[in-house]
Amino acid sequence: MKGKKDVYTASLGLIGSAIGLGNLWRFPYMVGKNGGGAFLIVYLCFVVLLGAPLMIGEFILGRSSHASIVGAFKSFTPGKPWYLTGGLGVLTSSLILGFYGLVGGWSLKFFYLSSTNAFINKNSSEMGEIFIKFIASPVDPIFWQILFMVITALVLISKIEGSVEKITKIMMPMLFLIIIVLCMKALVLPEIGKGMVFFLKPDFSRITAGGIQAAMGQAFFSLSIGMGVLITYGSFMKSDENLFISALHVIGTDTIVAFLIGVIVFPVAFTYGIDPGSGPGLIFTTLSSLFNEIPGGYGLGVMFFLLLFLAALTTAISLLESVVTCLNNQCKLPRDISVLIATVLITGLGSLTSLSLGVWRETNIFYILDYITVDIFLPVIAMLTSFYIGHVLELKVIQEEMTNNGVQFKHAKILQQMLKFVCPVIIGAVLLIGLVLN
Ligand code: PFF
Repeated sequence: MKGKKDVYTASLGLIGSAIGLGNLWRFPYMVGKNGGGAFLIVYLCFVVLLGAPLMIGEFILGRSSHASIVGAFKSFTPGKPWYLTGGLGVLTSSLILGFYGLVGGWSLKFFYLSSTNAFINKNSSEMGEIFIKFIASPVDPIFWQILFMVITALVLISKIEGSVEKITKIMMPMLFLIIIVLCMKALVLPEIGKGMVFFLKPDFSRITAGGIQAAMGQAFFSLSIGMGVLITYGSFMKSDENLFISALHVIGTDTIVAFLIGVIVFPVAFTYGIDPGSGPGLIFTTLSSLFNEIPGGYGLGVMFFLLLFLAALTTAISLLESVVTCLNNQCKLPRDISVLIATVLITGLGSLTSLSLGVWRETNIFYILDYITVDIFLPVIAMLTSFYIGHVLELKVIQEEMTNNGVQFKHAKILQQMLKFVCPVIIGAVLLIGLVLN
């Protein structure tokens, strides 16, 4: 019984790290921007074809090396430059936090606004204006971003990370519950038909090479692939934990959450006349419009934005942790100093990112940072890691890691070939086509 419980908690921590702004904020905005249903189908194909083998591969690398990102590469190929792949993963985590922390701050601000009833009697276009005015302001979003990053850093310094697991345990069922309630509300909206057609009916003429590249990046981002977080989780996993089942839990939950958010956002957008391609404000403007119109909207709004903030926080903690662990282990800096340095630098970057949505609009830092990290760095790291695991790890190691309670895993060879050839070739091809044709 105890074994079962341990497996459950390990998966839960992982699920807490995987489910975050990627599902709740970025997924609907990407679907909206890239043509709806066709993007969804391509995204799902990448989740199955690349996400599953890569997630299992990162678990295997972590558990067999008992090391986190940089150390895992060093332990199998000492003295070779492969560890730089791990280094690039840590750099990517820091850069991603540069905009993740900012959007985390937006969720805090919206939690504050909804709890002070600031949206009352506002229609959807006024809501859109509130959002645009807020993100373009030179001070307000930076203040909320700093607050978000300070909370994240305090969790790491105060060693209450064990409590994060407890928060996740309460947060996840509540998030599911509120998503189900909002789905039921969305399903009776007048423009449900238009919303569902946009989200579910693929029109492949609307997706570009850049859209396919974006779908691949979104799959990696949402499943936390390519940043070493999964390698680190793998290193903590017990030898009797079934890696295949753990990956299935994480991928299944992550995908269901993203899908249900789409079921909510698009009917709301069409009903209240919000452009589904309106960009990073989509989740904020659609949902605050919905909360304004439905009975019980005040309580649902406060709850939703609180959960959005907590989901962002649990993920930001794992991102910052991987940067801090790297500074701590590789640069031999004390942990508290590592937290301080990482937080100050990342918050500085986040502030520049924020200004690029207002007074420094011409620099486009927000969109460039998002594109470079999610659509280029993550796929490149995923491609290298995939090839590395398939190439360097002996078949025997993969076989052993995938064998549970004496039940032999019969497809180790296929998994190895997938990681060695199939995944890197697909990733490389999508990247190339996206970069050339975009
Ligand atoms: N998967 C997270 C999300 O969907 O919000 C984002 C993320 C977390 C990406 C951790 C990468 C990572 F290492």
